[in-house]
Amino acid sequence: MVPQCPPIAMGGLGDARYHVRMSEFIKVCSASELPDGSMKCVQASGHRIALYNLDGEYFATQESCTHAEASLCDGEISGDEVVCPLHFATFDIRTGECTGPPAYEDLQTYPIKVEGDDILVQVEMP
Ligand code: FES
Repeated sequence: MVPQCPPIAMGGLGDARYHVRMSEFIKVCSASELPDGSMKCVQASGHRIALYNLDGEYFATQESCTHAEASLCDGEISGDEVVCPLHFATFDIRTGECTGPPAYEDLQTYPIKVEGDDILVQVEMP
């Protein structure tokens, strides 16, 4: 017997088994707006994102702390970490890894690319 692929949309359009999320790179700011050692909050397709410039390298994480949703953009950069302004949890900016309590969940990170002076972040489309 020859194996067959399952029929597409077995359960109709609402069938989550076949839901494919599309993602896209979206321009969120200019590199000139984000000097070395700074961070900036941006939005892209409904995602609130914190952008960072560490020695000319750009990184993007979710904007809200995983502990109690404080805005990390109100915090501080310390080395390669961002420190939450509310209860001082720390996260590795490069990986999103939680490095200090009271938070314990990592931050979501987003791929970035730079085109000329434009910084683009890859986000899932709604
Ligand atoms: S809200 Fe960030 S550590 Fe509590």
